[in-house]
Amino acid sequence: MSSRQFTLADGAKIPALGLGTWQLDGSKGREAIVHALKCGYRMLDCAFSYGNQDLVAEAIEQSGVSREDLFIVDKLANTWHSAAEDCLDRTLAALKTDTLDLWLMHWPSPLNHHGNHPKCPTLPDGTVDFEKDWNYVKTWQTMIEIQNRRPEVKGLGVANFGIKELEAISFTGVLPLVNQVELHPSLNQEKLHKYCKEKGIQLVAYSPLGSTGSALLLDPDLQVIAEKNNATVAQCLLSWGVAKGWPVIPRSSSPDRLEQNLNILELSVEDIDDISRIGKASPKRYVTAPWHTFEEIV
Ligand SMILES: NC(=O)c1ccc[n+]([C@@H]2O[C@H](COP(=O)([O-])OP(=O)(O)OC[C@H]3O[C@@H](n4cnc5c(N)ncnc54)[C@H](OP(=O)(O)O)[C@@H]3O)[C@@H](O)[C@H]2O)c1
Repeated sequence: MSSRQFTLADGAKIPALGLGTWQLDGSKGREAIVHALKCGYRMLDCAFSYGNQDLVAEAIEQSGVSREDLFIVDKLANTWHSAAEDCLDRTLAALKTDTLDLWLMHWPSPLNHHGNHPKCPTLPDGTVDFEKDWNYVKTWQTMIEIQNRRPEVKGLGVANFGIKELEAISFTGVLPLVNQVELHPSLNQEKLHKYCKEKGIQLVAYSPLGSTGSALLLDPDLQVIAEKNNATVAQCLLSWGVAKGWPVIPRSSSPDRLEQNLNILELSVEDIDDISRIGKASPKRYVTAPWHTFEEIV
């Protein structure tokens, strides 16, 4: 399974399964990443704002897997939109790598670089402190300009973009190679997927299991499909995503579950349709943030 890939608009190949590294911290987090690499994961989904790039670098070194065999994704943090190149340099240094396979804008939400908090600065009234005289279109133009000068950035992408934001940057003539969004049967992103497919933008599914405390993992109808396939609900959710046409980046800190998640099944068309139907009956967004620009899903 680990060899399965999707092809991006520039011809680059992206693995169909990667490891999410959000909240993988401390020695347990590092050991999880080492284990994942040793058992076959080749894509790492990282971010400056996860605060664990040093740990990811240590894990890569410890795993013995060479850089050329990895696909590394990292993201420009919200409070660094107006200092994007500085964020890139710090990212490359912390990850101890010369290149990023993909550099994504983490959110279309520039926040005050000199605010009162490194991730979520606030104004005296408690509301989010957005960067003044800045916007995500300017950030995208900056990222394009940086990529034109810096061979370290192999590909550009975005995350948490809706159709509105994708339309707003389209005049630049450079479309993101990927748009990484929350994507699972309860948030199937049908309209966005159709739009991205037409434009040649590859969706990537974050929180493909529904993130921490997901109700999807306990869904009785999904459990029936899992039993029928002699598999787990998590395996069915990930296999559903790959069958629908997007890479999935689940996170786990457990060696057993990391191995389990690598095993993508060939689901029948009937099972794929049933999983889609089950999700549609319980629409839910699990991940949100005070700076989000999402439209309501219900
Ligand atoms: N671009 C963005 O804004 C954004 C936002 C959110 C996430 N992401 C990326 O997407 C990655 C994945 O999303 P996520 O971390 O939110 O959640 P997720 O991968 O959907 O779910 C992770 C949760 O599922 C559990 N889990 C994993 N495998 C399992 C299995 N086989 N059976 C049962 N439970 C299982 C994990 O617990 P254990 O650790 O105990 O196994 C953890 O609690 C992140 O790590 C991050 O890299 C990006």
